[in-house]
Amino acid sequence: MRVLSGIQPTGRFHWGNYFGAIRQYLALQGHEQSFYFIADLHALTTIRDAALLRQNTLDAALDLLALGLDPEKATLFRQSDVPEVTELTWLLMTVTQMSLLEKCHAYKDKVARGIPADAGLFTYPVLMAADILAYDSEVVPVGVDQVQHIEVTRDVAQRFNSFYGGEFLKLPTARVLDDSAKVVGTDGEKMSKSYGNTIELFESAKSLKKKINSIKTDSTPVESPKNPETCHLFTLYKLFATTEQQEVLAARYRAGGMGYGEAKNTLYEAAMEHFGAARARRDELALQPDHVEEILQAGAAKARKKAREVLNRCKSACGLAIQEI
Ligand code: ADP
Ligand code: TRP
Repeated sequence: MRVLSGIQPTGRFHWGNYFGAIRQYLALQGHEQSFYFIADLHALTTIRDAALLRQNTLDAALDLLALGLDPEKATLFRQSDVPEVTELTWLLMTVTQMSLLEKCHAYKDKVARGIPADAGLFTYPVLMAADILAYDSEVVPVGVDQVQHIEVTRDVAQRFNSFYGGEFLKLPTARVLDDSAKVVGTDGEKMSKSYGNTIELFESAKSLKKKINSIKTDSTPVESPKNPETCHLFTLYKLFATTEQQEVLAARYRAGGMGYGEAKNTLYEAAMEHFGAARARRDELALQPDHVEEILQAGAAKARKKAREVLNRCKSACGLAIQEI
């Protein structure tokens, strides 16, 4: 099974990114081929500050490695280190229907909010299709909001194959984890950087405490029984806790006599414990930026080899001259 996914370095990773996407990367590493990349080219549609993009890209690599992405089992690279992908994007662009891209949510939402969109945002799904197709990827682990883009990818690949009469591009499938497909943020809405309701993976203890304390709860008095099933706090706790631990907290909710402050504390402890080892690894790795760069370079060399093979296959299909590297 060939697994691939990408994540944008548009800010520090949060619980939604981890439980919706990154956790699956880790579970799937070690397959015949697992490719994970930092989507810095996609990030250009929102970040226009060189120093910030560089910092975010390094942070993304540090986070992924600290969380357990193992370069022995998976290939980790920067999207922009594989120029074959941008070349493939053009080939795909010529078979992509405008009407398909007009339906894509990132573009549609922006236009609906009256914000002018640039061509980068409009064609974003085609670059994403190239990311996936360039490596003959079969399975793409993503959060539920990216499923539409995988469908676009399949559509574009099918059109390319049908125009040129062959199985040049492999059709990928999305893989979404149902139980945490949508992690809620501190306000109970979907956790997302754009809503300012995130809890980052490596917040300082102080800031984590503050964020958890800001999670919205209802005004049921301390003495009264509470319903865990309708409480965001409990929903978030479920991400970290075993079934038994969940039952213990749920029973305390139902019994009454427990304030939300106590539940918040339980969530805080669980999160600190869950990311504790990764936090220590991250601090260590942050002292070795050259080592991280080496990992990314080695990953890119491996990824380019595969992307060149697929690009050449597609270029010959179109009647373009091919190049070896
Ligand atoms: P954000 O919404 O904060 O900008 P991204 O769009 O960069 O996050 O998401 C990166 C990855 O994390 C994607 O695969 C996305 O589906 C997943 N993801 C983001 N937020 C959530 C969430 N709240 N629940 C589940 N998965 C999420
Ligand atoms: N668009 C994805 C996101 O915002 C990131 C991404 C870019 C990606 N290329 C990809 C994800 C290829 C999976 C496969 O989360």
